[in-house]
Amino acid sequence: MTRAHSSIEPGGGAQESLEARLAKERRKFAILAERSYFAQQCLGACPLGMAEDLRAYGLSLTRRSRAIPEWAERWEEMHALVERLVAAPAGSVFLRDSATAAQATVAASVEPEGERRRILVGEADFHSSRYLWRAQERRGFEVVEVKHDDFVSYVDERVRIVAASLVSPRTGAMIDARAVAQAAQRSGAIFVLDAYQAVGVVPVDVGALGAHVIVGGFHKWVGGGGTGLAFGYVEPALSASLEAVFPGWMAHRDVMAFADRFEPARGAEKLQQGMPAMEPIYTTRAGLQWIAAVGIEAIRARSVELTSRLYDSLTEAGLTVITPRDPEKRGGMLCVDVPDGKHVVERLAEEGIDIDARPGAGIRIGPHACSTLDECDALARRLAEVTS
Ligand SMILES: Cc1ncc(COP(=O)(O)O)c(C=O)c1O
Repeated sequence: MTRAHSSIEPGGGAQESLEARLAKERRKFAILAERSYFAQQCLGACPLGMAEDLRAYGLSLTRRSRAIPEWAERWEEMHALVERLVAAPAGSVFLRDSATAAQATVAASVEPEGERRRILVGEADFHSSRYLWRAQERRGFEVVEVKHDDFVSYVDERVRIVAASLVSPRTGAMIDARAVAQAAQRSGAIFVLDAYQAVGVVPVDVGALGAHVIVGGFHKWVGGGGTGLAFGYVEPALSASLEAVFPGWMAHRDVMAFADRFEPARGAEKLQQGMPAMEPIYTTRAGLQWIAAVGIEAIRARSVELTSRLYDSLTEAGLTVITPRDPEKRGGMLCVDVPDGKHVVERLAEEGIDIDARPGAGIRIGPHACSTLDECDALARRLAEVTS
């Protein structure tokens, strides 16, 4: 199947300020007109194009079997958009229904090798990933949980897999992925990086990061509408040596051949499985196109501006931000230690301000790139009042 080209609008002129450019873009996000939206780390705001794509999906359902060529085209287009999002070479990305499933597929293809049987997992990483890696103990692995900043010092000849989040969902802190990748490469370990809380707000470039595997998904910072879609990138050299342990027809070299024997796809697509959910294939496209059009560097620059302003206002108001102050060491959200996060979230929601709370993280605040400094100031003020 050939890759369909997506319609990506050109970016704005260089002479226009970033703030002015993003103020214009704000109209494309319905929820930003209704709410002060700071829950990007949970479910990101979707561009208006998402609803049109959802309608197109609905229409395709009525065409039944005649919809299949369009679905195949959208599927291919999604691979191309994801490859663009993470600057990955063609054929190095596979699609699955969740980031846990994407990591599980890789995990299943890797065995312990003699004394090299350790899996390092971050203790502030996503709980679902930690369940998955811990469960590999029954396959002869030994799992060691390490602090988010400590990966490098734990990588040695006993380590088979290093599994880390680029941005922790519990603290908002970002690891030095390059340093971990170098340590893993030196010692011969496989580095699996969960970039879910980074893609769409922090530049993720597979070549620059150097991880062997990168997983992520779309319904947070990317602004994908539907759930049930995630991706995995596999470095081509590793991909060539990985065997697909649970393949399905979407992993075949020639998907529409209905062949009796399994012949794996040449790249990472061999890690796919059966019939995918098509709805998120439609409803994720607009978010990816918006990021490509605005540019991830611009999004990151604005996100840093907004979160830095928030950081200062929150700490001046006496609140404890557990996320590092240094923008190089954090993603797009700030975590604030408050006694009853759930109550604070509910109070603010009544006033039209959306944040979220997680055990161990306190409250989490993730502005959209089109949020304003005024919204940040108002949020910091209300948080100080509600928690005093
Ligand atoms: C760091 C991180 N990884 C992964 C996920 C999602 O994983 P899954 O797609 O398996 O639900 C989340 C949040 O939902 C997350 O915060």
